[in-house]
Amino acid sequence: MPVSSTPSEALPAHVAIIMDGNGRWAEARGLTRSEGHRAGLEATRQAVRFFAEQGVDTLTLFAFSSENWSRPRDEVEALFELFVSAIEAELPELVERGIALTFIGDRASFPQDLQARMTEAEQASARNERMRLVVALGYGGRWDILQAARRWVAGGDEAPDPEASFSGYLSTAGLPDVDLLIRTGGERRISNFLLWQSAYAELLFIETFWPDVSTAELQEGLSWYARRQRRFGRVIASAAGPEPGEVPSA
Ligand code: FPP
Repeated sequence: MPVSSTPSEALPAHVAIIMDGNGRWAEARGLTRSEGHRAGLEATRQAVRFFAEQGVDTLTLFAFSSENWSRPRDEVEALFELFVSAIEAELPELVERGIALTFIGDRASFPQDLQARMTEAEQASARNERMRLVVALGYGGRWDILQAARRWVAGGDEAPDPEASFSGYLSTAGLPDVDLLIRTGGERRISNFLLWQSAYAELLFIETFWPDVSTAELQEGLSWYARRQRRFGRVIASAAGPEPGEVPSA
């Protein structure tokens, strides 16, 4: 039974997070950027627990973008080491909590040990059904759309619903579209995250650097989401009914 103050019908099925601000959090404290990422991992642990307890179906975290390859080599290597140790350390608790872990992105260029841990974690948690935790590593929204487009065209799919059929070729096939996209760290951009999947997402930008984000702030985010009126491009009739001459919407 989730500990939740958000009614389940107002809960986003898919929350996606751009966990930004680790580097600036560290610099403000005279620490290295890698220490900032380690602090970010602790915030990640709390966020995963929080969203699982709330009853969210899918949580997708942007941990390493296609563009992050151009960061200094020592930062990239430290991040890979952090991912390997985090997967090893966290997998037992994820499995215990009924969370299925999968990874999206182009993993072919990752170190062999990281690729092996990713595959092991996916296999070990595949039967879990409480929440899907998707970690985007080596991910870019344009990369995703391109790889899907190549396979979609090659498949010659003449499906009656082309958008639904195309979605089936994205790395997020089978997952709901993003309902709530959160970015921490003060920037207001999507940075090539889930471009297709966030077409109708509610966008929440938080000033706090990722390592300092608390569960109270995440709870506020869910409450904010619950107050959104999602229209998906349609007109929603107001409670007072249509204006004179206005055609009521379906
Ligand atoms: C962005 O902050 C953060 C990253 C590129 C790394 C995120 C990784 C973690 C939080 C660890 C989580 C690990 C797993 C396995 C999910 P930034 O470095 O861009 O910060 P800045 O904008 O302040 O420089």
